[in-house]
Amino acid sequence: MRRKLVAGNWKMNKTFQEAEELFDELADSLKNGQEQSDVEVVVCPPSVYLEMAHDLGSDEEDETQVFFSVGAQNVNEHASGAYTGEISAPMLASMGVEYCIVGHSERRRYYGETDSLVASKVESLLQCGISPIVCIGETLEEREAGKQFETVERQLKNGLFHLQPLDFVRLVIAYEPVWAIGTGKTATPAQAQEIHAHIRNVIQEQYGKAVAATIPLLYGGSCNARTAPELFAQADIDGGLIGGASLQAEEFLKIVNSFD
Ligand code: PGA
Repeated sequence: MRRKLVAGNWKMNKTFQEAEELFDELADSLKNGQEQSDVEVVVCPPSVYLEMAHDLGSDEEDETQVFFSVGAQNVNEHASGAYTGEISAPMLASMGVEYCIVGHSERRRYYGETDSLVASKVESLLQCGISPIVCIGETLEEREAGKQFETVERQLKNGLFHLQPLDFVRLVIAYEPVWAIGTGKTATPAQAQEIHAHIRNVIQEQYGKAVAATIPLLYGGSCNARTAPELFAQADIDGGLIGGASLQAEEFLKIVNSFD
């Protein structure tokens, strides 16, 4: 059985105090086991709050008791050096970060993150034992031109298919149609399932059935507590990458509880 995973991408939101409050609310609820226990919850706050996330996301006395895993939103592809303002994979790993988002459409669009940069970042993360959450997805123009399948295939091939199977299985892939991110327009469950099934097929052609069957495929793009149950009920959707709806504990935890 594939693992189920819900990751919150806070993007550039929350002050220190607000972040602390949200971490506490999430930890309190997850600690009391009110959520489905077979769902892994990942919180990806701004990097300045990663340490706090790690501290508040696990039991103070027993660090093996983790309420939510911690993910970063970005990483530099180099391990260290003169790159002012950047954060490397070894630095993230040394702080207990387990996941990192790579190739988000906002980074592709505003910061020139290309498929080859995605490939370098993914390698750097894997070398440090961090699981990349790799985002792929088409723009509105590409969907209108019927190129959504082509786009995700290109992003998979150029960004990820150089990996050996043993590395590839450590990935999480998030399908995020750019036209659905932060717009309130969620892909319909059928639209999302169609692409997810295609992504899994393309992975199967490259790596075989067993690998394709293990990779968690998340849906992202205006997913909320109302739309999550039907999306997560689709055969090839294993969870979500949640932006806006992850900024409020109650809404986010409802999404975590949205599996059948
Ligand atoms: P959204 O963002 O849920 O606010 O649309 C999702 C994402 O960009 O990861």
